[in-house]
Amino acid sequence: MNADLEKKIREALANPKNVGEMADADSIGTVGNAGCGEMLRLWVKFKDDKGRRVIDKATFQSFGCETAIAVASMATELIKGKTAEEALALKTEDLSGGLGPLPPMKIHCAELVEGALRSALEPAAKDCQPAAVVATPASSGANLIDSLSQEKKSGMKINFLPPAKK
Ligand code: FES
Repeated sequence: MNADLEKKIREALANPKNVGEMADADSIGTVGNAGCGEMLRLWVKFKDDKGRRVIDKATFQSFGCETAIAVASMATELIKGKTAEEALALKTEDLSGGLGPLPPMKIHCAELVEGALRSALEPAAKDCQPAAVVATPASSGANLIDSLSQEKKSGMKINFLPPAKK
């Protein structure tokens, strides 16, 4: 990783934006990367803006690396004021734009953020229905990955991304 990127990531981590759960979120998306074991959850709240349903705020929590946290911090700022469709049209490089180009081994960190965005916004873009976290009953018999991978009645689903190519 080059020194400029390291500096920008350090700056983003020193003052990360939009960290934490959002109790009244309209939509929630969670993704995990089976390759590196990182996870990221994103909460989104919408508001009406002159007849358009736009993103009022987005927050995140991450068990991810520093790059994923820096990208999530930037992405949650970037999507404010956009409709779900507009936010979904953003590419991985748009989300990490403030950091500059990421080295190949760090691109999947930004893809983790993009995956969480898709997980949160695709249901919202489809039917505008609020989603809520539903706990998986301990007695369901499914293992953790199985239970997390199944779509819940709330519309929340954890998507496991394929391991990054080396
Ligand atoms: Fe896997 Fe960054 S190293 S998300």
